[in-house]
Amino acid sequence: MKFVFVILSLCFVICIQLFAQTNVNVIPKPVNVKEYKGEFIFNSSTQVVAITELTNETVNQFNDFLNLYYGFKINIIKDSKPGKGKIFIKLTKDSIPGYYKIRIDSDEIEISGSEVGICYAFQTLKQLLKPAGKNLALINSCEISDFPRYQWRGMHLDVSRHFVNVDSVKKYIDYISFYKMNVFHWHLTDDQGWRIEIKKYPNLTKIGGYRNGTLIGSYSVTPQQFDTIRYGGYYTQQQIKDVVEYAKKKHVTIVPEIEMPGHALAAISSYPEYSCTNGKFEPAKLWGVFDDVFCAKDSTINFLTDILNEVMDLFPGEYIHVGGDECPKTRWKTCANCQNVIKREGLKDEAQLQSYFIKRIEKVVNSKGKKLIGWDEILEGGLAPNAAVMSWRGIQGGIDAAKQGHYVVMTPGSHCYFDHYQGSPKSEPLAIGGYTTVEKVYSYEPTPTELSADEQKYILGAQGNVWTEYMPNFKHVEHMIFPRICALSEVLWSQKENRNWDEFKIRLSKQFILLDKMGINYSKAMYEVSASFSPLNDGVSVNLKSGLSDGKILYTIDNSEPNINSTVFNNNIYVKNDLTIKTACFDSKKQLSPILEQSFVITKSTGKKITMAVEPNKSYNNGGSFTLVDGIVGKIPWYSKEWLGFSGDNLDAVIDLGKEENLQSVIVDVLLAESSWIYLPESIEVFISNDGINFISVSKVDNEKIKAFGRAIEIPMGNSKTRYVKVFVKNSGIIPAGKSGEGHNAWLFVDEIQIR
Ligand code: ACM
Ligand code: ZN
Repeated sequence: MKFVFVILSLCFVICIQLFAQTNVNVIPKPVNVKEYKGEFIFNSSTQVVAITELTNETVNQFNDFLNLYYGFKINIIKDSKPGKGKIFIKLTKDSIPGYYKIRIDSDEIEISGSEVGICYAFQTLKQLLKPAGKNLALINSCEISDFPRYQWRGMHLDVSRHFVNVDSVKKYIDYISFYKMNVFHWHLTDDQGWRIEIKKYPNLTKIGGYRNGTLIGSYSVTPQQFDTIRYGGYYTQQQIKDVVEYAKKKHVTIVPEIEMPGHALAAISSYPEYSCTNGKFEPAKLWGVFDDVFCAKDSTINFLTDILNEVMDLFPGEYIHVGGDECPKTRWKTCANCQNVIKREGLKDEAQLQSYFIKRIEKVVNSKGKKLIGWDEILEGGLAPNAAVMSWRGIQGGIDAAKQGHYVVMTPGSHCYFDHYQGSPKSEPLAIGGYTTVEKVYSYEPTPTELSADEQKYILGAQGNVWTEYMPNFKHVEHMIFPRICALSEVLWSQKENRNWDEFKIRLSKQFILLDKMGINYSKAMYEVSASFSPLNDGVSVNLKSGLSDGKILYTIDNSEPNINSTVFNNNIYVKNDLTIKTACFDSKKQLSPILEQSFVITKSTGKKITMAVEPNKSYNNGGSFTLVDGIVGKIPWYSKEWLGFSGDNLDAVIDLGKEENLQSVIVDVLLAESSWIYLPESIEVFISNDGINFISVSKVDNEKIKAFGRAIEIPMGNSKTRYVKVFVKNSGIIPAGKSGEGHNAWLFVDEIQIR
């Protein structure tokens, strides 16, 4: 056992060193890299020969980067004579868009590729640069040939829920391009605001561009509260043209999204005649899905045709996104106009009416030589003939569409929703919910194995979605996309067999130095310290671990906040008295992670041997029986990790104190959370024994008493002497009528058993 451990440790050390030796810390990981001795020095007399207008743009962007972060520029010249200290660019035609090759030695740098490939080559150079003294930078000699795995490498941004200005949109495009991604899906309209000027319908922005307040805090807090601040904004067509031009120089294609037939409150607030009820609406202050949507009558199609014609003139890309998701059919069911269309067209139901609606819109889009893309709901009632599908409700929509021969962009909530939490909700800013860590994003495989080789060709790629309900400003958007965008870029660009989570983490921690330099507000959740516990000599042994290994874990046990001078965590902490550990990850200068705080209550039962007659339900059995004697008292609001859950079953546990002890009381923690069907127990009874076989009852409390205590139920033991203690907690049984979950098994949630 020991030998195996030593061998494993050795492998670990060797692997880490192998990973760490590379100078090519580039994200996404290039396909082929050869490293050599030597280095190319950049200074203000370095020359670069640009060739076309777009490569000139690329070189200018590189120069801006140099200037901003290294304080000097290189010279862009016309001649191409060989010579020391020059960067040569060779334009080639490549079969894989984005392919590039770089050769760097101490004399020169040679770059070849198409215009987009050359852009990516310079993005790689930006990441390879190292400071080398005042007005100097260097790149270690190497050869890289590189190309993308997927053609759609996208990031989406919702500017309806929260608006960001043109400068921020450009920054977003910078980030996309920096990681060699190439699609910006611009979600321009939704219930809470219409954000694109349409000349023919000025009310869309005049009325639809502003809401009279916004939900404060979480959607699920009751009662919901709203501010009364008028909120909004929009992009003029001139600004849109400017952004499109900007994106072109960064080789990013913009896919504009005009939502229909749902998520249309801002539009029908401006032009109520295109709703089913002609009612009075206002752009939503609340998030969610609303019943009032576009009416499916002909005049709406004409209205949307006018809008799309203006939109299509602004955006040169081939795809136009028309939404299609989350459209309740409530209004359509009772609308004479909608029902007339159903009858006229011989449709079966409202699902087919939605399909008919999208098919008519597709004709408009196709008539301008463009392609329609929509969320996976556009599959319902039949897919429009040429439409592409964005699979967000899992991957099944994408699989179905590909099997029908339609192109697909994968963006399942499980891996691609960057509005989810990426770390502990306790230390991350309020988010919509979910838990999509960087590791989860990195583990994503966009091509489903359910597809044949032929069908797999329809998977264009994937994208990260950024819904901004809980992102009030652009700095917050940065926090939510970084570093998950780094992980996604590698999923989409790098070869599948080149991907390795442990090795990626090393490059990512190097990337953080660059992000700091660039002033990007990235989440530190990767550094979060997590604690695990095991029993040790009547106490608890605590192990601390950080998600990234390049920081030191420091901690305190005196209730002070940890700082740079706190104790370094090297060996497990042995807890044998009541105390609180406060810990965080630090580098040599600053705190890298949020603080993790863990309190312990040590009693006669802590760390003792405990057995249970019936195992808890699999879903709520995180740490096994030790959870009940680990010194950690389950908290409220409850995290399932701290509690054991029994569905209909009782807790029947025996604790071996190891020797005879005098007992004053036993305290059992139970939980009441009726909305989750968790109810207080019927009774708690404590037995004692000196042989662990024959138990006698000492004390019992009933449901009335338990209710009076609320949660930490104290059972008096009258100074009895014993070695074995049996605790029997009786589940309250079937949930009675009128209660949440009536007729089902009640859940019994138990945590710490303290013996005093
Ligand atoms: C979506 O998240 N409603 C596409
Ligand atoms: Zn209608």
